[in-house]
Amino acid sequence: MKRGTTKRRMRGTKESMSDGGMTVMRCFLWSLLLCSLSSRAQGFIYTCGGTLKGRNGTIESPGFPYGYPNGANCTWVIVGEEGSRIQLMFLSFAIEEEYDFLSLYDGHPHPTNFRTRITGFQVPPPVTSTGNVFSLRLTSDFAVSAHGFKLNYEELHSTSCGNPGVPPKALLSGAGRFAVGDSVQYSCVPGYVLDGHATLTCITNAGNTAVWDFPAPICRGMDH
Ligand SMILES: *[C@@H]1O[C@H](CO)[C@@H](O)[C@H](O)[C@H]1NC(C)=O
Ligand SMILES: *[C@@H]1O[C@H](CO)[C@@H](O)[C@H](O)[C@H]1NC(C)=O
Repeated sequence: MKRGTTKRRMRGTKESMSDGGMTVMRCFLWSLLLCSLSSRAQGFIYTCGGTLKGRNGTIESPGFPYGYPNGANCTWVIVGEEGSRIQLMFLSFAIEEEYDFLSLYDGHPHPTNFRTRITGFQVPPPVTSTGNVFSLRLTSDFAVSAHGFKLNYEELHSTSCGNPGVPPKALLSGAGRFAVGDSVQYSCVPGYVLDGHATLTCITNAGNTAVWDFPAPICRGMDH
């Protein structure tokens, strides 16, 4: 009987949330060991996330920074105003490499909107959606977690390029509204040299979208 219900629970529907709650209750009634064993056997899924609206905000993985749960399937859908784009700025990122993932969907979380999958221990550069909806999904396996992620999101208007980000060992000046016509300057901390353009200017491209004229440069160690 139990085996037969496993697949349904794995799908992570609303039903699985209440089933999950019952599993947790049973765990308290039995023992912690039995709990983890039965959770694994039943494909326990921890669901979280939600729909976010508003000009800006913060998203943290559950339990951040003390580690996200195993068997997580959390989906956040950020919905901006019509005509805006959504920018994600990562503040912290640590996800068990190649086992747990943060997937980004340029639109609603549907396979056709899949954009990229992030894993590992490096803070990713800022990323901007093409439309007014951006979705994130955290999925973790049944062993080992890491401290998770924290990011700020912001709605960008058509005249804003958004923060171009600060690569490792780089410094950014000339910050402001990052609007069309604005420029920013990069430099590197001592011992590092800049590869790429030191000055980026926010321009309007052929598609009438505000974009930086060049990608952010990188700072390279002098002896490499
Ligand atoms: C996560 O949940 C979504 C729906 O809420 C589902 O479509 C998807 O298959 C689930 N992913 C995993 C790995 O269970
Ligand atoms: C976020 O939005 C609020 C108002 O909606 C604004 O006061 C605040 O400055 C914004 N924060 C950032 C970081 O843009």
